[in-house]
Amino acid sequence: MEPRLDPFVTLLDLQRGTLDPQRADPEPRYGRDLVGFFQTDPIDPEALIYQVRPIPVPKEQSEIQCSTTTIEPGTVDGEYHMTKGHFHVVRERSEIYLGLAGEGLLVEATEDGRHHTEPMSRGSLHYIPGGWAHRTVNVGAEPLTFLAAYIGDAGQDYDTILRDGFPVVVRRGENGPEVSQNPRHPRVGADT
Ligand SMILES: [Fe+2]
Repeated sequence: MEPRLDPFVTLLDLQRGTLDPQRADPEPRYGRDLVGFFQTDPIDPEALIYQVRPIPVPKEQSEIQCSTTTIEPGTVDGEYHMTKGHFHVVRERSEIYLGLAGEGLLVEATEDGRHHTEPMSRGSLHYIPGGWAHRTVNVGAEPLTFLAAYIGDAGQDYDTILRDGFPVVVRRGENGPEVSQNPRHPRVGADT
């Protein structure tokens, strides 16, 4: 076959998730971008919640999309800062996350409401099978950074999450993070 792409390399800062060269502009997500995702909307529309740094390749099944994400520490009305979370548009597409810095929780959920959480930290390697929505939550005092790699044509379905949320929410408790049922989710299932 005739190769479609030339090989390339970029240098990843394992602490901050920055890439050199970047190859694509970072995609910041501010409070205003996360309206509807927390139980209470962010007060400050200009507050940086997280930032995605893509390593772009064609969005096709033969390619591996890759990105880093850094979530700033903090809470929105008691809920820890988190990504929007998504199902893949092509539901069966899987993904790998690798924790690089900070302390987090990976929350996963199926469409029928089953849910699962895993701690994230430097070196934690997470396999997210097809059919599981995924959201990362920064439960620490420092930025949470991780690397994601997924099948190129997966696509991100945020609308289902905007409508239903995840079956569980992660709040700051007196003794650390507390995972509780999301009262707005239409079908909270078993903890897997
Ligand atoms: Fe994904």
